[in-house]
Amino acid sequence: MSETTSDLDWVFASKTDAIPKNEGRAFPIGDRMIAIFESEGKYYALDDFCPHQGASLSAGWIHDGCVACPWHAWRFALSDGTWMDNRKIKTDHFQVQVRDGDIYVGIPKTSAEARAL
Ligand code: FES
Repeated sequence: MSETTSDLDWVFASKTDAIPKNEGRAFPIGDRMIAIFESEGKYYALDDFCPHQGASLSAGWIHDGCVACPWHAWRFALSDGTWMDNRKIKTDHFQVQVRDGDIYVGIPKTSAEARAL
């Protein structure tokens, strides 16, 4: 993702202890659901809507830095949303910050908001 932190609105998503190790949970943020994952002590955020047929990626299985969709096992890299079977395609991913046990997701500002800065 190429945004700088000033291009983002940091929105509270969850407490860290609401996300079990090596699992995901989905949270409504703005007008979409965003899946937050824990893997090896780090947190990642992807669009929860699988681009294949819309399953919730937060219910998928985490393995080797990827989440496998619970319906048909398409795998997406946690770090940047790359679909592992065709690396030219990505699902949306978001920057994450953890502050005092709170997880914040960086939502890109609209282009109109960005121009006003
Ligand atoms: S709905 Fe996700 S792989 Fe089919």
